[in-house]
Amino acid sequence: WVNQARQFQQAMMRYTCAIREVKTKLEVLNDELSVKNQRNPIEMIKSRVKKPVSIVEKLQRRGFEVSLDSMEKNLDDVAGIRIICSFVDDMLVRQDDVTVIMVKDYIKNPKPNGYRSYHMIIEIPVFFSDSKKPIRVEVQIRTIAMDFWASLDHQLKYKKSFIDDNGEISEELRKCANVIAETDQKMLAIRKRIEAQGVTVRRD
Ligand code: GTP
Ligand code: MG
Repeated sequence: WVNQARQFQQAMMRYTCAIREVKTKLEVLNDELSVKNQRNPIEMIKSRVKKPVSIVEKLQRRGFEVSLDSMEKNLDDVAGIRIICSFVDDMLVRQDDVTVIMVKDYIKNPKPNGYRSYHMIIEIPVFFSDSKKPIRVEVQIRTIAMDFWASLDHQLKYKKSFIDDNGEISEELRKCANVIAETDQKMLAIRKRIEAQGVTVRRD
């Protein structure tokens, strides 16, 4: 048991390190773009490592063996990063040591409930003292408005006594998602109009 616990701890450590690597890449991009364009594309970066109970639950739910190997092979979201960007068009990240394993574009193709975000499963090499290991990280990219919506949706989903008045609440929530998406688009158009006026430097 002690040995297994140690191995689990090491695996979790690797996921934490992978998150740190991806976070650094994002911070570098953000720094560079903020000097170049005088605005910060990234509002916020949140991250988490999946909790042991959730790992076991997900493996069982999907009918996989509950073991370390099985976790590393079958779960793509043990390490998770969420990037909150100010505008939708800031959302494409490319680097040559990053392998994109899978993309789910819920912005182009929103979920029926209205959920919007750009999801990627990426794999990055992490260098340890005696080895280099490719580690998978789930990256979710969304605007502030989409994040606002998703957190309410998430709260409702996990509120045990939630009664959906014949689907009325879900429908209202879906409508909100549409309004939010429309507003994101309008804001983007406004920004483009302002940027098209060229750079003005204020000295004060
Ligand atoms: P999971 O089993 O939840 O990992 O789903 P999946 O493997 O089908 O992947 P998907 O890309 O659909 O969702 C992954 C993650 O995106 C979830 O764990 C949530 O964090 C987020 N997400 C997906 N759909 C919704 C949604 O309808 N509402 C909210 N609030 N979050 C969502
Ligand atoms: Mg998940």
